[in-house]
Amino acid sequence: SMEEMEARVRAIKERFGKRLFIPGHHYQKDEVIQFADATGDSLGLAQVAAQNGEAEYIVFCGVHFMAETADILTGDHQKVILPDMRAGCSMADMAEISQVERAWPILQKLFSDEILPLTYVNSTAAIKAFVGRYGGAVVTSSNAKKMVEWAFTQKERIFFLPDQHLGRNTAYELGISLDEMAVWDPHADHLEYNGDIKKAKVILWKGHCSVHENFTVRHIEHIRKTKPDMRIIVHPECSWDVVQKADDAGSTKYIIETIRNAPSGSKWAIGTEMNLVNRLMHEHPDKEIISLNPYMCPCLTMNRIDLPHLLWALEALEKGIVVNQITVPEAIAKDAKQALDRMLALA
Ligand code: 13P
Ligand code: SF4
Repeated sequence: SMEEMEARVRAIKERFGKRLFIPGHHYQKDEVIQFADATGDSLGLAQVAAQNGEAEYIVFCGVHFMAETADILTGDHQKVILPDMRAGCSMADMAEISQVERAWPILQKLFSDEILPLTYVNSTAAIKAFVGRYGGAVVTSSNAKKMVEWAFTQKERIFFLPDQHLGRNTAYELGISLDEMAVWDPHADHLEYNGDIKKAKVILWKGHCSVHENFTVRHIEHIRKTKPDMRIIVHPECSWDVVQKADDAGSTKYIIETIRNAPSGSKWAIGTEMNLVNRLMHEHPDKEIISLNPYMCPCLTMNRIDLPHLLWALEALEKGIVVNQITVPEAIAKDAKQALDRMLALA
């Protein structure tokens, strides 16, 4: 039963003590997040991983790219475990290193090398390594603005991977117009742009999050009509028009803090992953909270980490078996770490 499994996880955690560390992303299920030693957004969890020198085993409750990042940032003596190998990220899968390696020489030539790559942390270690090699950095939804500003101190132009929406929303916030943004389509190996391409300041990779694309302008219009006093807050992985029409946008950490600090009785429609929206509803019974999309929006890959998988990984550890270890090859880890360190130094 659920109770039995919970008791077993608790007992194993107690026996391992500080040798075991469980980070949990805000999108994880409650049945898992209750056992997290640290919860956070992507930036917070990257920082936590970088600072933890103690734990022998890091059982990462999140998705594959987060576990890779943890492996890159932790010491050689530390092992990172992902309780279910199928916990990937559809957005990270939208940028394959082979596609990026086809695009890059074309863009470099077109812009006479005046272009710096930046990658959202939601990307494979190989993409982070590519970015690190060319002087660029990783960004998260918490620090994208600061990182894009930094990038423009390095080069005249940026190449933003793999989330076109976070890239577009962030650049727009910094005063770059939509006319100054082009989109690289990795399937057609084609740059989508109308106008003089030399004037483009931001080249966006044509990727997106399959969870956040489910929040639309129509949902916003419906709320405005039916609940005019409700405030709408969304994650910047939502499209530009959704972010423009919402009242506020920010990372999961920002959304949590905004709701926490909102007055009792306030009304909120939230455009982000289902587990987080549900948790906020339960934590704030004094506020009226709904999902911006009434059908809710689960991240199916995040949800693959459940209590049975967590328990399975921990019970194996007790028997001295390391299952589902995430190891980034040394050559990739070295370059990816440069891109991550450039972010962590500024964040
Ligand atoms: P943050 O945790 O940075 O808000 O990102 C959300 C997300 O989609 C993680 O996969
Ligand atoms: Fe990837 Fe979107 Fe799921 Fe985050 S919510 S892990 S970006 S698919």
